[in-house]
Amino acid sequence: MAEVLQADRKAVQRAASFLREGKLVAFPTETVYGLGACALNPQAVARIFEVKERPFFDPLIVHVATLEMAREVCEFLDPRALLLVERFWPGPLTLVLPKRPVIPDIVTAGLPTVGVRMPAHPVALELIREAGVPVAAPSANLFGHLSPTTAAHVVKQIGDRIDLVLDGGQCPIGVESTVLELLEEPVLLRPGGIPLEDLERAIGKIRVGSLKDGPRAPGQLPFHYAPRVPLRIVPQETPPPPGFRVGLLAFRVVRHPEWFAKVEILSSNGDLREAATNFFACLHRLEEAGLDLIFAEPVPEVGLGRAIMDRLRKAEAKTLQ
Ligand code: TXA
Ligand code: MG
Repeated sequence: MAEVLQADRKAVQRAASFLREGKLVAFPTETVYGLGACALNPQAVARIFEVKERPFFDPLIVHVATLEMAREVCEFLDPRALLLVERFWPGPLTLVLPKRPVIPDIVTAGLPTVGVRMPAHPVALELIREAGVPVAAPSANLFGHLSPTTAAHVVKQIGDRIDLVLDGGQCPIGVESTVLELLEEPVLLRPGGIPLEDLERAIGKIRVGSLKDGPRAPGQLPFHYAPRVPLRIVPQETPPPPGFRVGLLAFRVVRHPEWFAKVEILSSNGDLREAATNFFACLHRLEEAGLDLIFAEPVPEVGLGRAIMDRLRKAEAKTLQ
């Protein structure tokens, strides 16, 4: 079982030395918990794929603490890349850029590009700075399952397979980073913590990637992020079928709580940021409630609502398989 430590200075130093030794450390970021390994160590990175049961075709994001470190990982050829970095880093934006040779192929699934981001969580930044190496980290969950937004979520899924969990409390943003490819034209590969609207205000029109682009980002696979209970997106006030234990993931007000075995509300005043923060924790609780089925109400598809609907559709697609 992994050590679980409150993320104080001493714990972060221990975690940093673990990373340098090739061990696996789960750590908080502002989006979700990451499962980190030294990005320059292919054996350590291989263990991430084993632990998550993640297919090797699915590339990892490399986390950096400084722009200098980012420049060692990838090339900033497109001037828009530096503009976005200035505006949105540290923060929930992953840029897919041409990679440099120090990054082993296993990190990028053999692609000539690498996803890079500077997280906005003080523990994550201190950990990377202290380790002195870029840190490859996917979300700290089993492949295709719910992402973790607390240390307890990490322990539940993979606690027995990793070396250390740094507990930094609940992740404030709650959905993963936005993934933007910046090669010839900007392409949104995954909606996330920075709304598309904000990115477009900074650099102009962005093409929204589709499966026609090939499954470059598995956040792009049609199914992902799924609870272990079937999930359906339904209009508000849809009565559950009789004879089943049905849970409700509501956006705001619930008119008939008595219809459901368990109700979770994303944001009682309809705030999409609050909804994103609560999103995975609500689904983890619904998953644990012994339900036959989860009904999820749609949220408005603007700002962070786009990231929430993306994950709900993928959860539905996965459980319809
Ligand atoms: O917020 C986040 O991004 C979290 C925290 C831990 O930083 N990490 C995360 O990692 O969500 P993961 O592995 O669960 O999702 C990474 C996404 C995947 O959809 C992956 O395919 C895409 O980023 N990605 C990474 N490198 C890529 C590349 N070179 N080209 C295209 N997509 C890439
Ligand atoms: Mg993930």
